[in-house]
Amino acid sequence: MQKVCVVGLGYIGLPTASLLATKGFEVLGVDIRSQVVDTINQGKIHIYEPDLDILVKAAVQSGNLKASLCSKESDVFILAVPTPFIEENKAPDLSYVEAATRSICASLKAGDLVILESTSPVGTTEKIAQWISEERTDLVLPGRLSESHRENQIYIAHCPERVLPGNILKELVENDRVVGGIDRPSSEKAFEFYSSFVSGEIFSTFSRTAEMAKLTENTFRDINIAFANELSMISDELEIDVWELIRLANRHPRVNILNPGPGVGGHCIAVDPWFIVNAAPKTALLTKKAREVNDSKPEWVIQKVLNHADKMKTRTIGCLGLSFKANIDDLRESPSLAIVESLAERTDYQLMVVEPHIHSCPEILSGKKNVEFSDLQSAIQKSDIVLLLVDHDEFKEIDPKVFEERILIDTRGAFA
Ligand SMILES: NC(=O)c1ccc[n+]([C@@H]2O[C@H](COP(=O)([O-])OP(=O)(O)OC[C@H]3O[C@@H](n4cnc5c(N)ncnc54)[C@H](O)[C@@H]3O)[C@@H](O)[C@H]2O)c1
Repeated sequence: MQKVCVVGLGYIGLPTASLLATKGFEVLGVDIRSQVVDTINQGKIHIYEPDLDILVKAAVQSGNLKASLCSKESDVFILAVPTPFIEENKAPDLSYVEAATRSICASLKAGDLVILESTSPVGTTEKIAQWISEERTDLVLPGRLSESHRENQIYIAHCPERVLPGNILKELVENDRVVGGIDRPSSEKAFEFYSSFVSGEIFSTFSRTAEMAKLTENTFRDINIAFANELSMISDELEIDVWELIRLANRHPRVNILNPGPGVGGHCIAVDPWFIVNAAPKTALLTKKAREVNDSKPEWVIQKVLNHADKMKTRTIGCLGLSFKANIDDLRESPSLAIVESLAERTDYQLMVVEPHIHSCPEILSGKKNVEFSDLQSAIQKSDIVLLLVDHDEFKEIDPKVFEERILIDTRGAFA
């Protein structure tokens, strides 16, 4: 039975590890957080993703999934650790990938395949080879762009993950994948591994192209959302309903404008374009501008709320949603959370905050006297202004009549 070690048991690593375990691989999941390791070993989960609890339970009960704080000898190593940017200069922070790489080095042997799944700046897979070579002078590393197999070599490839939170388990299997080795044999080895559990098509290339492919996908989304966000602000100035405008423009057979929102969040689309800007600062002008437009949108929403609230006697604002997008619990880089945090600084406003996908108020808001973590009905009843920040399914079911007596600021067009 092939042994797989998955390093990083978050939104990507845990579903991947448990899926592989149920497909017959012997899987060791590794994480630096002991609470995560203990939870998984009990067959439980620490993140929310539909059906993940059932899969992890089955994987652990089968004996094929174990979690640990340390790696051990395996045939395939998958790195699924965070790749954030440094807030001050937006440069990529590769410290997690480096630490994860160095942590597996003692367990590596000739013939093993190391796969980087984390979304990474161009050249990261080659850096992995360099870090391994510093730790293990005895191993034969792939030669960059080499076409031929070397005796006793290890194989290193990037296989970017493109799953959609909320649909991860299906997409892990069904999505098309790009695999990019440092050399041709690494690409072939990675291709063979993914072929064993992916039903989508698998495309082989070199690591740099694979790294850039993932960044390109997210940047494409970011730029298109920036256009929609810019349109929403222009339309507001010109007293045009942006939702109607987009609906009409999209009747053109070759136009497909995306939806505006309160900003762009998550640790992918709001982060990855910066990896391109950082690598090519003089050239990636459009990419940078789009990031700036999207980053400016939360402040625009805040001003809109304040403009309404300042005209009112009572100032209770119902804030619907904190996650970065609909129907998930992920608050990372969420513009909705940033907007609520900023509004909460104004102690003359009372905030009723609703987020049906998390159990308790996030720490960053919980100490505030003017913030109440509320159920949907009470929040609407008590609010003068309803600020819809996330288009969760629960919110779309609200009877629009309740907005006749309140101001609705619908950043997602849920009621457009
Ligand atoms: N979440 C998504 O939808 C998504 C989609 C596509 C790509 N990605 C990319 O996948 C990567 C992982 O994202 P995620 O959402 O799973 O992150 P996450 O924060 O949910 O999980 C990362 C896990 O890695 C652990 N970790 C950190 N350093 C470690 C180390 N040295 N050794 C072992 N474990 C370590 C953390 O404790 C955490 O549990 C990122 O590069 C992300 O951009 C994520």
